[in-house]
Amino acid sequence: MNSIHIQGGVALQGKVRIQGSKNAVLPILAATLLTKETSYIRNCPRIADVYKMVSLLKSLGCSVSWDEGGIRINAERVCCGDMPVEAVTGMRSSLCLLGALIGRCGEVIMEHPGGCVIGERPIDLHIQALEQMGVVFREEEGRMMAFAQNLHGAEITLPFASVGATENIILAAVMAEGDTIVYGAAKEPEIEALCSYLECCGANIDGAGSSVLRIRGGRPLYDAEYLVPADRIVAGTYLFGCLGTGGNTLLEQAPWKDMKSVIRIAEQMGAQCTVAEEGLYVQAPERPKSIGFLRTEPYPGFPTDLQSMALAVQTLGDGDCVIEETIFENRFRVVEPLKKMGADIEVQGAGRILVRGRETLRGTAVEAKELRGGAALVLAGLMAEGETTITGCQYIYRGYENICRDLRELGARIISV
Ligand code: EPZ
Repeated sequence: MNSIHIQGGVALQGKVRIQGSKNAVLPILAATLLTKETSYIRNCPRIADVYKMVSLLKSLGCSVSWDEGGIRINAERVCCGDMPVEAVTGMRSSLCLLGALIGRCGEVIMEHPGGCVIGERPIDLHIQALEQMGVVFREEEGRMMAFAQNLHGAEITLPFASVGATENIILAAVMAEGDTIVYGAAKEPEIEALCSYLECCGANIDGAGSSVLRIRGGRPLYDAEYLVPADRIVAGTYLFGCLGTGGNTLLEQAPWKDMKSVIRIAEQMGAQCTVAEEGLYVQAPERPKSIGFLRTEPYPGFPTDLQSMALAVQTLGDGDCVIEETIFENRFRVVEPLKKMGADIEVQGAGRILVRGRETLRGTAVEAKELRGGAALVLAGLMAEGETTITGCQYIYRGYENICRDLRELGARIISV
């Protein structure tokens, strides 16, 4: 099942429930290693990245069981020391295990994390911060070893509000001796979710969601039950799908409080967005308006993870739009396949493109090269005339529980084969 077929030209109508957040739940799953009691994580999305994280936790000795409400994890018998090969090689995609294993076991062996299609993905900020907490890193035969004889709190200043580095600091700091203060911390809602799960376990963290975090270390952590918030990027994906097809939808449980910058851009494109108890109503214009300029920024700015979806919609805009990507160095992989569908896009430099709106896109065969670019191609297929076939969909299933089922609920003619 790694290709998707779409018959375009249908306006999305109706309502769809938004799944639990991938980027909130991955560090929370890693954090379950920090207590020897059981965590019940509700609304855990059933996506490939979660299944990968769960198999890593099992390989470390955790017991795991799913029920229809979520997933139960008990990390009482985590085997510290001899890291299983799967955990060592699989760590790249679950970098937040680094901080959790240092917190739990005081040592980690992991493959040197490489880059990926959207960028180099260095981890220098993670390493510099953890070294200030007493962690010693060594390289052996291409593997990274990290040891912490005595993990202690520190005053850390992050030169860039890295989400992953902030998460790894929090995961180590709750287990360290003494307090840790982080200046320049990431403010994403996923950081708040991680902190609120850890507080459910008994941790004491101030400042979640702000740029200054204070984490009190050395407190025992107990069992917890936690409800994963809805995924703001999945909600934003379907919001832009509605915008691009001239639709009218309700995104049930959409975390609209965490989507202010996304809603603002959607309204500039001509959407009417109404927030309500049950979620976010979106009424799209006949044709999207071109917004002239869009730049991605750390939260609360416009999220890099929705840049490709906004680009897809702007290919049908009524004018021009310059898009600047400031977070990742190679996040315009979707430009080529969009041009193959008839989009008029000019690369103006490493992180900058100019898209000139056209009347139509035409369906054709395209290939997804990464998660969010793949989702943007699905939106382009919905917006195009004729049939679009997308291959490489295993990337999309990393972050979307069932994008075809969700979009069919909104009336799209889409199947995965
Ligand atoms: C998280 O990645 C998300 N992934 C990304 O979502 C998201 O795009 C990103 O945050 C920004 O919001 C998960 O939560 C699993 P960063 P992360 O550390 O933690 C550079 C998706 O599609 N950097 O904030 O890797 C880095 O190269 C994914 O769901 C360093 O230079 O993001 C990048 O250019 C994609 N050194 C920038 O910072 C470091 O030590 C942002 O990285 C760490 C990061």
